[in-house]
Amino acid sequence: MVEDGNSGQQINGAAGIGQRAGAGTRPIRLLQLTDLHLYAESDGRLLGQNTRATFESVLNLARQRHWPPDAVVLTGDLVHDERSDAYLYLRQRLQQLDVRYFCIPGNHDSPRLLADCLDPRAGSGLRIESLGAWDLLLIDSTLPGQEGGAIDELALQAIDSHLSANPDRPALIFLHHHPLPVGSRWIDTMGAENGARLLAQAELHPNMRAILWGHIHQSFQGRSGHAQLLAAPSTSVQFLPGSKDFALDTLPPGYRWLELHDDGLLETGIERTDGYPDPLSLSMDGY
Ligand SMILES: [Fe+2]
Repeated sequence: MVEDGNSGQQINGAAGIGQRAGAGTRPIRLLQLTDLHLYAESDGRLLGQNTRATFESVLNLARQRHWPPDAVVLTGDLVHDERSDAYLYLRQRLQQLDVRYFCIPGNHDSPRLLADCLDPRAGSGLRIESLGAWDLLLIDSTLPGQEGGAIDELALQAIDSHLSANPDRPALIFLHHHPLPVGSRWIDTMGAENGARLLAQAELHPNMRAILWGHIHQSFQGRSGHAQLLAAPSTSVQFLPGSKDFALDTLPPGYRWLELHDDGLLETGIERTDGYPDPLSLSMDGY
């Protein structure tokens, strides 16, 4: 299943960012996988779904459609129960797939276990990774013991400084929590409380090409200034867009793909599997 158009969405680069890649130059390919909610036990289920099984179904789809990626960005809630065995399982799978990966924590993660077991640089305030002509700015937006999040003041300053100092390098911002209300009352009580600060920076910096997040278990598209605002579906269960209270959506799991061209052009889209491995429990009233 394809969303955002069959060939994805083209987002034109800002004038002055680099040069168009020559004919035959392959863009950088990224995959965003989010809200895996893996359990330590292989039979762990979230709202009736075995989250290892849904994760594997999404991986299978990605391996058919967008493989190999240059990197995978995992945007939080990698595990559901904050236990090391779930992280170790994920590390083993990513190593088996031989992919480069970057992780940021979500509200269901333990930043310490995530760093210890899977990605030593996860959860370090602001992290900057360079991929060819592009920079990835990865924010830890979690607050200890809270479902909602916030962006650290020092991280906001560092983002501003980096984008100002590197105007010719297009950048993507990744975080777990949504930086603006998405129109769902219950989810909007647990976004990034100062996300407007990030959106304001998108007005100032033409090289901020997109802000991407997870947490809301649904796709989202918007714009703030120069940046596309993009969320990806969960690899596990989906939340119903626009719902006042907790409600599951029947849409199947999926992932976001991105192709980053040297001149700042960004192509992106959502792919979903054909369905859930097991029947969906739509009567659940929370998670
Ligand atoms: Fe989640």
